[in-house]
Amino acid sequence: MKQDLTLQAPAKINSYLKVLKQRTDGFHNLSSLMHMVGLYDRLTFQEKESGIALHIPNSPLPSDGSNLVIQATELLQQKMDEEGYPKKGVSIILEKEIPLAAGLAGGSSDAAATLIGLNRLWSLFWPKQKLAALGAALGSDVPFFFDGPTAWVSGRGEIVRPIQSDIKGWIVLVHPQIPVSTASTFKAYSERIGLTNQGTALNIRPEERGLSSEDVLRSALNDLELVTFDRFPILKVIKDLLQSLDGQLTLMSGSGPTLFALFGDQEKAEKAARQVEQGIQGISFKLWVIPLLRQTPFEWVF
Ligand code: C5P
Repeated sequence: MKQDLTLQAPAKINSYLKVLKQRTDGFHNLSSLMHMVGLYDRLTFQEKESGIALHIPNSPLPSDGSNLVIQATELLQQKMDEEGYPKKGVSIILEKEIPLAAGLAGGSSDAAATLIGLNRLWSLFWPKQKLAALGAALGSDVPFFFDGPTAWVSGRGEIVRPIQSDIKGWIVLVHPQIPVSTASTFKAYSERIGLTNQGTALNIRPEERGLSSEDVLRSALNDLELVTFDRFPILKVIKDLLQSLDGQLTLMSGSGPTLFALFGDQEKAEKAARQVEQGIQGISFKLWVIPLLRQTPFEWVF
């Protein structure tokens, strides 16, 4: 009997997210700087003769075909079939810690971890570029997780350029328990700004203007705050509170609603977190103090 394989799938935050234009396929072209952070889902894989079993012990997330872990497994099985590999099956336990629909790409990270884990479990030894290309079909944020821990992401998410970054620190992450739909956030932003599929003067990626990631940290931005804060004004209140605590960078992640601030060290972050805990009123939320990752947890698996 083969040994189990366990992987930690990290969350991501965006320190820069510019929406550039509408595409004809319903997605938007972006320019984003993404960072892996130390908040993880845990996936354990055990080989079995055939089929797929997914068990999620601690979350309301469905374990059917709508789950990206199932979709990733089926996609890999299908590709193996096309290429003449023998059939394989797997049992997967998914322990969720990353909140759902939060702007932290938990589902995308789980999908990437599934492709990476099964590549090892089933001894495929496919290169990561091939796996990332499969992952791109599952979700816009999936390709990022094959690189990182810090990368510029563009196109709809499939163009990933990892960078060396000396940005260090600890993140205070606040997740107000409001589910936010990514699709409706992009749509509302597009309508609000009047984006077209023609492209605009904004269609210049900051890395092409020669900005370093540190420059970008200073000019931190998330275009999607505009619509998410309008819908949920409490988020702006929480952002203002975080901003008053001397963080270096305070933003919403992705389409939200999760907010974060970066602090120089763990102690400062813990202190800020206590102030946040006392300061937020009238909404349920979860809060973590976690590091920016200096290494991707998937490195050893390839
Ligand atoms: O790819 P993913 O499933 O994460 O995207 C969810 C939705 O978010 C898409 O269906 C699309 O409406 C929107 N989206 C977008 N442009 C992107 C990424 C996502 O419009 N680059």
